[in-house]
Amino acid sequence: MHIIELIEQKRSGKPLDTRQIQWLVRGAVQGEIPDYQLASLLMVICYEGLSLPEVLALTEAFVESGDQLAWEFTDRPVVDKHSTGGVGDKVSLLLVPWLAAAGCIVPKMSGRGLGHTGGTVDKLESIPGFRTDLARGEIQAQLEFCGCVIVAQTENLVPADRLFYALRDATATVNEQGLIAASIMSKKIAGGAQHIVLDVKRGAGAFFMDEGQARSFAELAVRIGDHFRRRISWVISPMDAPLGSAVGNGLEVEEAMSVAEHRMVDHPLVENCLELGWRLLTSAAIRPGEPAARELLLELLENGAVYSRMQQWIEGQGGRIAEFREVLAREKRARRFAVPAGREGTVRSIDALAVGRLANQLGAGRARKEDPVDPFAGLELSCGKGSLLDLDSEIGALYPGPACTLGRDEMIAALQSAVVIES
Ligand code: URA
Repeated sequence: MHIIELIEQKRSGKPLDTRQIQWLVRGAVQGEIPDYQLASLLMVICYEGLSLPEVLALTEAFVESGDQLAWEFTDRPVVDKHSTGGVGDKVSLLLVPWLAAAGCIVPKMSGRGLGHTGGTVDKLESIPGFRTDLARGEIQAQLEFCGCVIVAQTENLVPADRLFYALRDATATVNEQGLIAASIMSKKIAGGAQHIVLDVKRGAGAFFMDEGQARSFAELAVRIGDHFRRRISWVISPMDAPLGSAVGNGLEVEEAMSVAEHRMVDHPLVENCLELGWRLLTSAAIRPGEPAARELLLELLENGAVYSRMQQWIEGQGGRIAEFREVLAREKRARRFAVPAGREGTVRSIDALAVGRLANQLGAGRARKEDPVDPFAGLELSCGKGSLLDLDSEIGALYPGPACTLGRDEMIAALQSAVVIES
């Protein structure tokens, strides 16, 4: 076999077979296929697409490229969730301990932020002492202790995807449905959960711009799940506006904690969690259907079980909550400045992409993988769609970090233009 033959075959519209895909992935991981040839094949795939058998073979080859975790120590259902990412998307911070409180085992591996969307690992690392690099034995101990864990993906979990993804990112070949599905699903399958829910975000601040793309991705993920005997459910949720009010690492942790601590059933984060949570509880047969599953979830929020599980989980991974609150409050006081609406009217929309980019520029995100993030930089919105505003009403507060290169007026203008006000 030679990579040039595979490129030519795919370019002439003929699908690759399983043997060829296995050879390709193995060769790439062993460093036998140069990046320029792999990138060329990826570009052809972006134009020609991948058939279902090709996607299944690619997913399988990815899964087999590294560790495959299994959680045999427990009889409880092992569940996981994945979000395709968005602005202010702090769902995992709340849903993971919530599912554990409902009787699930949740071994979640998360990523770091890149571009305008944040990453759960960066968010959690804003808590002093919180460890995201637990060894296999420590992960299991944490699961036995409180039923949930969130750690960074280890080097050896789907190393083939790490390599493919870095190349796709550098060659504008990320955006092909089959490549995305194989990339995401291989990591979930190698993570060992039997029940997986996908939060497929669609809209301006999301990976999928429209409902059709989001739906066909979800349907493809279900086919992959069937092949690996995993139960996949999915939700398409809007990402036109940021989710909740905080955007930025520590700020988002604080918002998720407040929702749990103050049992804020009307917070938008809660409905997103309920939508995902009831599907997992039904899939895992903890409750027979949506009404009973929602009822259990709401009861756990209202009786404080979610917050106490969240505290156990964070402290179990070394996080010092009181210190986090103290440092964050101090940083917020020192950095905060309020942004006035600048005109009268009603908020028609809030541009999630623009808000995500602004939070990044304030210091919350990174442009390159190796860049550090500022744990306390970001912003908080104080208006939402439909809010009535005067000239001086506050639309949000900005918390720029030392690395922020924007001037005060630029920052204010950026938030004012992200909030679309109709007179
Ligand atoms: N996230 C992933 O993990 N992989 C993709 O291909 C796209 C988003």
